[in-house]
Amino acid sequence: MKKLRVNLKENSYDILIDKGILSNIGREVKKVFHGDKIAVITDENLSRYYRNSIEEELLKEGFNVKIIVLKPGEKTKDFNTLPYIYEELLDFNLTRSDLIIAFGGGVIGDIGGFVSATYLRGISFIQVPTSLLAQVDSSVGGKVAVDLHRGKNLVGAFYQPKLVIIDTEVLNTLEDRFFNDGMAEVIKYGCIKDKNLFSMLQNLKGRKEVMENIEDIVYTCCDIKRRIVEIDERDTGERMILNFGHTLGHAIEKYYNYEVFTHGEAVAIGMHLITILSEEKKIAKEGVSQLLKEILLKHNLPCKINIEDKKKFIENIKLDKKNLNNNLNLIVIKDIGEAFILKENISFFDSVTI
Ligand code: GLY
Repeated sequence: MKKLRVNLKENSYDILIDKGILSNIGREVKKVFHGDKIAVITDENLSRYYRNSIEEELLKEGFNVKIIVLKPGEKTKDFNTLPYIYEELLDFNLTRSDLIIAFGGGVIGDIGGFVSATYLRGISFIQVPTSLLAQVDSSVGGKVAVDLHRGKNLVGAFYQPKLVIIDTEVLNTLEDRFFNDGMAEVIKYGCIKDKNLFSMLQNLKGRKEVMENIEDIVYTCCDIKRRIVEIDERDTGERMILNFGHTLGHAIEKYYNYEVFTHGEAVAIGMHLITILSEEKKIAKEGVSQLLKEILLKHNLPCKINIEDKKKFIENIKLDKKNLNNNLNLIVIKDIGEAFILKENISFFDSVTI
């Protein structure tokens, strides 16, 4: 088993990474939680595969368990889903000394975490991420949120889990498209902080070879994220480099009403386009965008896009909640593994090829 410690004073926690660790989930939970009741929040797809085994493992350790099953997909991460979950927790008489486990991908982690941050003014929770994207990114660092009609993640908190349990075996049941979705974030870590990770990914042929090295890959990504979050938990400086590719990525997702590209696909295109621009403006070393294009294609990710209404697209960049008053904190790379924050305005994108 691989283990990392996220050092955040009284909010510190471990990340456990191991193939098959879910079969010991009860034992691992017992090491950090000494109460009685556990509410597991999950979705219908995961429930079909894992409900019985998770329940059995937790019951075996003497916990009183309730499983709350939500519909899969981003629509569930809505502010209006919250009352249903709070009611379920109240029916179960969950108290502040009990625990919530968020068992699922990014949606479940975000809404489960938000519920934990707010139910009875805050109750302990554990993240058990089941998608690659959640394993390498969203389950670590304490960003939890729900969506409003006017935009994604508009209501949220920084609320750290007590533990993150990552079972890489569950990735075997992911559809290829969603595996690749997570690979975009893995490639992002290589681009912003780790040349060696990037080279490793250049040499791996497809999902099978990635899976042969998955514990190391997940460990490396979580370690990078851990270091960044330790420096800047509240996302006011260094943590922003995790948004490489996201300014354009979010605009792409929004332009297509979240229906055409997955988050990872949009970020892949965003990373490539901003690096082309950076190269044109002599910010990035010549040839970096080509390296990025090759690695994205190798891992079955898109790298370009044809936008019909460029004006509307640029408006979407301006509307992003992070880009208030036309002041953009753009994340760019000088070279592979070297990211920095560039303070710019929207004219940076005047020559973008879309
Ligand atoms: N997913 C970016 C962050 O946690 O800051």
